[in-house]
Amino acid sequence: MNPLRLQYPVHTLDGELLLEAGTTLTAERLEEVVSKRKEGEVSSVSILAYGTIRQDLLECIREGPYRLIFDEPSIVEEILRLSSNTQIALPLIRTLDYFKEHDLYTYLHILKVFALSTLLARTLFDDAEALHMETTAGPLHDVGKICVPLQVLKKTDPLTRTERKMLEHHTLAGYVLLAYYLRDREGFLAKVAKEHHERKDGSGYPAGMLLEDPNVEIIVVADLYDALISSRPYRPMAYDNRTALEEITRMASRGELGWEVVKALISINRRTKPRYDECVVSTEERGTPPEENVYGIVVEEDG
Ligand SMILES: [Fe+2]
Ligand SMILES: [Fe+2]
Repeated sequence: MNPLRLQYPVHTLDGELLLEAGTTLTAERLEEVVSKRKEGEVSSVSILAYGTIRQDLLECIREGPYRLIFDEPSIVEEILRLSSNTQIALPLIRTLDYFKEHDLYTYLHILKVFALSTLLARTLFDDAEALHMETTAGPLHDVGKICVPLQVLKKTDPLTRTERKMLEHHTLAGYVLLAYYLRDREGFLAKVAKEHHERKDGSGYPAGMLLEDPNVEIIVVADLYDALISSRPYRPMAYDNRTALEEITRMASRGELGWEVVKALISINRRTKPRYDECVVSTEERGTPPEENVYGIVVEEDG
């Protein structure tokens, strides 16, 4: 696959320019960025002990469809236990402060994806190391949004084509930022930032590659589900839970998502919590998408 090209610059929260717009992301260019990062101890903090994160996380999983998913206190305790060792490098966790202050929607979205992807991973596998990795990916999957203008992130009207490109830039920006801060351009977290809008049939972005890593797929599905059931700046009405699950099921039928993770999402949404591999999925559609749904709609630009 050809190396990808940045449409916009990538900078840190402190405004340090890492790569200019127009840069082709070759292995050499990325290595240069990684080597800019000074050696030495980077202090990390436990995500649940940082600021109000633990409290904010508990609050957001008590709302909407998350109430049913996290209905058992033992499930909540399990999520807290699994993420109790999740450490995030200080400059990266500061991005959560940035979103909390400037774009609350993104902040809460990140926390919900964090909780949901941890639970999906727990449902799908037992491998402690893979599970641990997954708990770190949720909080950082959208870190590249620090490189998207806030007026685009918070816009209440449909995005123009240029604005959509600006938004899509968060995938590659997140990839570069994580490669830089973690000094690893091939690590799982950088990969999640880059691939979490890709699809199994190649219909996603930024590369249109075939999504193959089941651990990335967990973030993809958690991200999509939260996007559908949450009201967003440009879509005041959210999908109801049934319609959101139907939409995600339809995507699996079209080959965009894998069935395993979709079944895991459906099983945690059922009151009886069946095993995901015994979960029978109905493809009958009964829900109705919300009115004023402008999800994915792009308007032509003026002039
Ligand atoms: Fe994203
Ligand atoms: Fe996201």
